[in-house]
Amino acid sequence: MKRILVTGGAGFIGSNFVRMVLAEEKDCLLVNLDNLTYAGNLENLAGFENHPNHKFIKGDICDGPLVEKIIDSHKIEVIINFAAESHVDRSISAPKIFIETNVIGTLTLLEAARDKKLKRFIQISTDEVYGSLGAEGKFTEETSLHPNSPYSASKASADHLVQAFGHTWGLPYNITRCSNNYGPYQFPEKMIPLMINNALNDKELPVYGDGLQVRDWLYAYDHCKAIWMVLTKGKPGEIYNIGGCNEKRNLEVVKFILERLKKPESLIRHITDRLGHDRRYAIDAAKIMSRLRWKPTVSFEEGMAKTIDWYLANQKWLKNVVSGNYQKYYEQMYLNR
Ligand code: NAD
Ligand code: TYD
Repeated sequence: MKRILVTGGAGFIGSNFVRMVLAEEKDCLLVNLDNLTYAGNLENLAGFENHPNHKFIKGDICDGPLVEKIIDSHKIEVIINFAAESHVDRSISAPKIFIETNVIGTLTLLEAARDKKLKRFIQISTDEVYGSLGAEGKFTEETSLHPNSPYSASKASADHLVQAFGHTWGLPYNITRCSNNYGPYQFPEKMIPLMINNALNDKELPVYGDGLQVRDWLYAYDHCKAIWMVLTKGKPGEIYNIGGCNEKRNLEVVKFILERLKKPESLIRHITDRLGHDRRYAIDAAKIMSRLRWKPTVSFEEGMAKTIDWYLANQKWLKNVVSGNYQKYYEQMYLNR
């Protein structure tokens, strides 16, 4: 049996990973460590409370003694580190927590993985560590790192630490760098669910700047599948880019959502751009495609249709996650802009 410590498994991608593994793998124990920040939600794990192969533990990845205790008591072999502060806009208004969780938290996990001689450490990183592209070209694993936001700088720092632990102590690791994800259970601070939520409520859709920025979108299930392949077939010490081969301008995505929900384009409102906004991301995923035989299985149109339908069918989930501090966040971020 594989025995994996998944961190951040109550968040968007982590909970999609937990759901996929519990549905598709019989011989795998997932211990899920998450401190349930605003982005973590036990409702994302509904149905798995009593699953024999899943154990949820509320706790912080910066808590070294707790991490070591979990590794010992569950005979953990592998850590997959999803836990992070993940939203660029929040990193611009309050960067410190990004350093605490994304850098110190990763360091804490690495020390435990080294001391307990784990078989593998998988760091879930992002294409944002590479910086921004012009109109041409794509990021490969050899592209040098030029992070532009406090978020991407903290993720790049974590990547460097993972490689340093591999080099210095021989820790067997992989780093995955994926493009923008979308799908069920994404918190509505990120563009796609935010636009869906606003459109459903006939609220304005706030497009930053000219809306011609480009992101390469990947359905979260396909990202999770790629991570599983890296775990089971990846070579230690390798970095794998993961991408959707699916570049879209933000405005195209927003218009797709409006059309699907039969809402007018007059809801679009261009607002002041994000500070230091990266213009374009695009991933060259040739390495994972050729070496691990991974490829995306869900097209953008199909994935977006599934995602919009999921939000339509799960309005109670949406209502619950936007209660509490979300309104205050939204006002601070978007009003008078
Ligand atoms: P998310 O914000 O939805 O979830 C993060 C989870 O981590 C939450 O459940 C939160 O409670 C938990 N967490 C935060 N701080 C913690 C701490 N100190 N200790 C324990 N748990 C903590 O993020 P996501 O979008 O699911 O992203 C998951 C990972 O994938 C992140 O590392 C992110 O950098 C990376 N990534 C995300 C995308 C994307 O498009 N969302 C793309 C590429 C890579
Ligand atoms: P986001 O989902 O925050 O992901 P990231 O910044 O990590 O790529 O944003 C995706 C794109 O959408 C990005 O170019 C910023 C833009 N955006 C808006 O135009 N309006 C919004 O309200 C948000 C949240 C993002």
